[in-house]
Amino acid sequence: MNLVNKTQKTFALTTPLYYVNDVPHIGSAYTTIAADVVARFQKLLGHEVLLITGTDEHGQKIQRTAENLGKNPQDFCDEIVPSFVSLWELLNIQYDRFSRTTAPRHGAIVKEFFERVWKSGDIYQGQQQGWYCVSCEEFKEERELLEGRRCPIHTNKEVEWRDEKNYFFRLSKYQNKLTEFYQLKPDFIQPETRRNEVLSFVNQGLQDFSISRVNLDWGFPVPTDPNHTLYVWFDALLGYVTALLEPDAEPTLANALEKWWPINLHLIGKDILRFHAVYWPAMLLSAGLPLPNRVFGHGFLTKDGQKMGKSLGNTLDPVELVKRYGSDAVRYYFLKEIEFGKDGDFNENRFINVLNADLANDLGNLLNRTLNMVKKYCAENNVPPISKEAISDENPLKTIGLRLGEQVKQAYEQLAFNQACESILLLVQTSNKFIDEQAPWSLYKQGQQQEVEKVLYAVLESVRLAAYLLSPIIPNISSDIYQQLGFGINFNDRIQSSLNAPFATHATWGLLSGNQQLGKAQPIFKRIEPPKND
Ligand code: MSP
Repeated sequence: MNLVNKTQKTFALTTPLYYVNDVPHIGSAYTTIAADVVARFQKLLGHEVLLITGTDEHGQKIQRTAENLGKNPQDFCDEIVPSFVSLWELLNIQYDRFSRTTAPRHGAIVKEFFERVWKSGDIYQGQQQGWYCVSCEEFKEERELLEGRRCPIHTNKEVEWRDEKNYFFRLSKYQNKLTEFYQLKPDFIQPETRRNEVLSFVNQGLQDFSISRVNLDWGFPVPTDPNHTLYVWFDALLGYVTALLEPDAEPTLANALEKWWPINLHLIGKDILRFHAVYWPAMLLSAGLPLPNRVFGHGFLTKDGQKMGKSLGNTLDPVELVKRYGSDAVRYYFLKEIEFGKDGDFNENRFINVLNADLANDLGNLLNRTLNMVKKYCAENNVPPISKEAISDENPLKTIGLRLGEQVKQAYEQLAFNQACESILLLVQTSNKFIDEQAPWSLYKQGQQQEVEKVLYAVLESVRLAAYLLSPIIPNISSDIYQQLGFGINFNDRIQSSLNAPFATHATWGLLSGNQQLGKAQPIFKRIEPPKND
């Protein structure tokens, strides 16, 4: 297969394809928010971006859930899928493709891929015996199980014994190739702790895994033996490939892989690391295809220390959260408060405190008080006519501001969203302190107009830079700030942000032009009143 060399200018990334056994919860929203932030950041860099998300609809878990509700599985999936689509809209997710594994064109891609792997001689029939967790859709080692043969991830679910004829994929054959690959591409699995987990798993010796099921019909038939149904994970991972097809393209591998392959980044939770970092590259090697660039496994959102999940029934409703607090608030909290890669607990008081402190007080008040001072102390409602050269290099805002773009860029590239936020907030907090120390109201009384204008310019420019750099995380608030600063840029406008706003220009302190007409000062984030405890 001839794969066109990927240009530097494209960036394709994926969220997992979510199981539709229930409506989405905050854990699914977490990965998708992070993916949207990465996609928006890549657009700021001027790259052409493809963000893939979607749903994983086959397998026993979905079939059983549908049966328990007395529904046909396809109807059941069709009922659940819109709840994902509408949540992504509520959360302001700019996805490009929504891949459903029950789509007929996905069947064509799976069949073609299976045939390539079959031709490589990597599929054979054998007897599968073992403990299966239907919630994970995965066989478990006996030693991994909790007391009462419960799954370590779905701690309220017992695993089930299976003893059946299955088709196997020859994973063991790829032991050396994978080990070489991990060495050659040390950044393939991130963060480091996850990479170590995978290396130690692989070093223990890889076992072939079964890729078909009997006594299950909710899935694609094995192309060479219709008495078997393809294992849901074999089918699901290929959903990423199907998603790459242009909407009207014929569903062939060649068409799917033409523009965007290999995927730049798979964003996943840590529970599905093995599938993405071991099984998936081995399947691709078998099919003779290039491997993805990077897999990042983030941590779990917990409630009272336990993984939040549909199977455990201890979830937080993201719809309610967004309706109550707005999409920017939810996006900001999860990315600022939890180190991406580590687990993080949700606590409503903390949520309210962080948003009030950072968005309402630090950022919101800064903009508001500065705009009001411009109105009061400057002749017109314009940005003071100061050039960045006129501001001393000793000015603390200029000093931080000039370094910030590069720092934040690196943080986003490493998916260290919390660090990006912290660095930006430092500029915001320093700006508040700077106003208090410089006291433009006194300078004004003393008739030091130029000094007043320098202070106000430096602060407005710092707010602008903060808004720009935060725009992947809080696009609505950043757009409002840009409007109030007199720019016509809306960060939710895909074309505007990708083409007209090259990162190097906007991320440099000093862009704001003197005399630009300012907009009307309005609060950008309304303080949240903590709920009253009766
Ligand atoms: N269908 C598979 C993925 C197939 S990808 C080809 C699947 N789906 S899932 O709906 O169960 O989980 C999807 C993602 O949500 C996973 O990355 C998982 O880690 C993430 N989360 C589920 N619960 C989570 C938390 N409580 N916290 C953070 N993320 C969690 O697995």
